[in-house]
Amino acid sequence: MSKVNRVKMQFPSHPENVSLARVVVATMMSSLDFTLTNLDDVKVAVSEAVSNSIMHGYQNESNGLIDLTIAVDGNGLEVIVEDRGQGIVDIEKAMEASYSTEPDRMGLGFVFMQSFMDELEVLSEVGKGTRVRLYKSVPQLQRSLQ
Ligand SMILES: Nc1ncnc2c1ncn2[C@@H]1O[C@H](COP(=O)(O)OP(=O)(O)OP(=O)(O)O)[C@@H](O)[C@H]1O
Ligand SMILES: [Mg+2]
Repeated sequence: MSKVNRVKMQFPSHPENVSLARVVVATMMSSLDFTLTNLDDVKVAVSEAVSNSIMHGYQNESNGLIDLTIAVDGNGLEVIVEDRGQGIVDIEKAMEASYSTEPDRMGLGFVFMQSFMDELEVLSEVGKGTRVRLYKSVPQLQRSLQ
């Protein structure tokens, strides 16, 4: 049986909404045969994307809006995080390990997203905003057991 589900939500850029996003994504994942490691990995990746929208997109102002779309089918999970914040000047550079526009940050958010997910796509336009698409497949072994 393929389990198809989709949720779309919008929330303000309050730091406490990072955990809201984690809870919603974890709940959506529970309908599929992901491992506990997969669950932890996706939660970290989603936290990083939402934190970036809050911190960088909206520069920690809590009156920005973030759109979160989560879709699952029998094969995997897709998460899209979108903000209408300041945008990224150089996406390629931003995705490099240890690159950050803020001196006190590690510059590892995109590295985590890349390594913990199967797919990462970033679209951004300066002054318009940023859209991050994350995708994780259900492990093959789990799928063949269904
Ligand atoms: N939604 C966003 N809007 C604007 N700029 C962004 C956004 N997401 C990322 N960036 C830019 O990309 C850079 C790299 O992001 P990344 O998450 O890899 O590192 P970081 O957020 O600086 O540090 P860390 O995630 O380790 O705390 C950021 O420093 C920022 O300049
Ligand atoms: Mg980050």
